[in-house]
Amino acid sequence: MTPLSSVFTDALPLTPEAVAAEQSIEEERARIAHDLHDDLGGDFVSIKMAVAQLRKGLEQAGTASDMLNERLAQIDTRVDAALASMHRLIDDLRPAMLDFGIVAAMEWHASEFTRQCGLPCSFTSDISGTDSEADSEADSDADSDADLEGDSDAGSNITLAPHRAMSLFRIFSEALTNAARHAHASQVKAHLTLDGAQLQLTIEDDGTGISAQALQNPQSRGLRGMRHRVLTLGGTLMQQAPTTASGTRLCVRIPLL
Ligand SMILES: Nc1ncnc2c1ncn2[C@@H]1O[C@H](COP(=O)(O)OP(=O)(O)O)[C@@H](O)[C@H]1O
Ligand SMILES: [Mg+2]
Repeated sequence: MTPLSSVFTDALPLTPEAVAAEQSIEEERARIAHDLHDDLGGDFVSIKMAVAQLRKGLEQAGTASDMLNERLAQIDTRVDAALASMHRLIDDLRPAMLDFGIVAAMEWHASEFTRQCGLPCSFTSDISGTDSEADSEADSDADSDADLEGDSDAGSNITLAPHRAMSLFRIFSEALTNAARHAHASQVKAHLTLDGAQLQLTIEDDGTGISAQALQNPQSRGLRGMRHRVLTLGGTLMQQAPTTASGTRLCVRIPLL
């Protein structure tokens, strides 16, 4: 097993300040996502309603014309496009599915990934059950102590702070993106399990494998970002021997707290 931390030796050791900064960045992203949704989302919906009223008013006044209707339809289409971009931004800032717990969010992401990339990704976990109650408000305020995500099921209860869930989700997302972009794989398998007080996520593809050169390249920002997040969570990121003839198997272990 190769710890990726030993590959990227030039990185500075993480200080408590850096860990706190990472947490506050995630909290800030979640706050911006909420503001975008509530403020900008509300504004866009008002514009759509105003366009609909205007169209109706023109018709009732007998002043509608093809040109005016066409312009209004264009505005409506532009607003729909802006709404779609806004939702993409929001999801990038903080995936909404995390409100249903890390397991549900990963399941959803794996199936979206399969649908969008055409590379089959299976996600399994023996941690079942979701908790929607804790997280719906979890990211709206800065006090994360009260905002714990609990996946409740007999035998596999986990409690994971929202910013930790978000970091783990981003690591998962980057690993899948890499498998799709670089591996020339035919499938990806991911598994999330609990090992004592450690949450363990393995992501394995049957592609070409990561070259030593890529591992040592300072431009490998995705891999470095993954490693940075893992270290921030007090965990480890290892490259393990894949179970298939070739490919990449990453193993992330993070303490629950
Ligand atoms: N699952 C993978 N299979 C094969 N090669 C990979 C995989 N993941 C990463 N790599 C290699 O590592 C390099 C760095 O990855 P990354 O740091 O995520 O940067 P980027 O995805 O922007 O190229 C990639 O360009 C690729 O060569
Ligand atoms: Mg990448």
